Amino acid sequence: MKKLVGIEALAIAVPRRYVDIEDLARARGVDPAKYTSGLGAREMAVADPGEDSVALAATATAQLLRSNNVDPSRIGMLVVGTETGVDHSKPVASHVQGLLKLPRAMRVFDTQHACYGGTAGIMAATEWIASGAAAGRSAVVVCSDIARYGLNTAGEPTQGAGSVALLISEQPDLLAIDVGLNGSCSMDVYDFWRPLGRREAVVDGHYSIQCYLDALSGAYRGWRERALAHEVVRWGPSLPGDQLSRILYHVPFCKMARKAHTQLRLCDLEDAPNAPASTAEAREEQAKSAASYEAQVASSLGLNARIGNVYTASLYLALAGLLQGEGEKLAGQRIGLMSYGSGCAAEFFSGVVGEKAAKRMAQAGIESVMAGRERVSIAEYERIMNLPYEAPDQIAPAPGAFRLAEIKDHKRRYVEGAAS
Ligand code: CAA
Repeated sequence: MKKLVGIEALAIAVPRRYVDIEDLARARGVDPAKYTSGLGAREMAVADPGEDSVALAATATAQLLRSNNVDPSRIGMLVVGTETGVDHSKPVASHVQGLLKLPRAMRVFDTQHACYGGTAGIMAATEWIASGAAAGRSAVVVCSDIARYGLNTAGEPTQGAGSVALLISEQPDLLAIDVGLNGSCSMDVYDFWRPLGRREAVVDGHYSIQCYLDALSGAYRGWRERALAHEVVRWGPSLPGDQLSRILYHVPFCKMARKAHTQLRLCDLEDAPNAPASTAEAREEQAKSAASYEAQVASSLGLNARIGNVYTASLYLALAGLLQGEGEKLAGQRIGLMSYGSGCAAEFFSGVVGEKAAKRMAQAGIESVMAGRERVSIAEYERIMNLPYEAPDQIAPAPGAFRLAEIKDHKRRYVEGAAS
């Protein structure tokens, strides 16, 4: 029998503070509907310098191990996917290993390709286990990022921060990944980048949307070709994409998932054999189907709308949001996942939701993580954004959370919140 491999459990960590997106719109003199309806945002996480990519990754990983009673000796690989590195050499994953006092006998590394870095890590771990090389061991992959464009920029309402830690194993209680069906598409483009030494991303916003949609088309068509060959989907009365119960997208802002879904449907409508002759305009109209978006996409966006962009973690926040609400209903059903990283790389893959998904999501305690946040004013958000990141405020971390305490001689020191 073919080995099942995929996501066994997950946990999230988010900054303590957030702003309401309508407060931000009013402060910027923008119609709030542009941010809420035009971009699909509700709230935006605000990370202070003590909540860097290491602190968020360590907090999520500690929660993952604690709430799922994971024996650290069964972990053979620890990967952090991030585009918010803290050092050119020392990986974020190495800090996480040290902070959590994990055993030495494991591979520890970071993966980087903008927002695609987390998926790169998940595929490395999944295929390592599927190949048999893991010899029964599991992997932890953590997606951790701080999305930052700066005050008064077009990208400002699409910031956010957080971390999603995932346990990858031969017991995929959340999602058994269809190993080998993945479709990839990469291109060398300058749509969004983060020059060394800068805190803020540089972005050609509208071009980045076009790059995302182009790369999605290539990745989805690659997946579809393999899925058709394996009879996972078929051309028939319904389109191949319609045969997936849900489709999750990389979510830089929620409206992007709607644009992405339209593009995916357009790929199917353009390529369908024996399709009734129709004009490009008619196909575009059909691709925009609100009913399809509501049925396949909308229910995954709850956490993304409340946290904002988390680069590598955004797709996995959508997975968490989906399974938190619909884990029980979707058990045994196949979903699609579309990862995008600027620069650029896209990967479309699929998997089957596990029978224990609802139980595992209850263990993640996401509601209490979200309930622990504090709404701050725009003045406070601006103060936090202007803090130098070498000198974090000396605030006691929440129980079980980690925080950057200082950087001395270019070495970072973290503190852990005492258990309550
Ligand atoms: N009421 C309702 N809707 C309104 C409105 C109003 N008063 N005013 C404008 N809108 C709508 C617009 O019609 C538009 O919707 P459509 O795209 O559906 O037409 C939407 O609000 C946004 O308006 P604009 O395009 O005018 O907004 P903008 O130019 O100020 O910036 C942005 C939008 C380009 C996304 C910008 O926020 C940005 O640069 N963000 C960062 C880049 C990004 O997220 N790129 C995504 C692809 S790259 C990627 O995915 C990797 C990654 O994570 C970064």
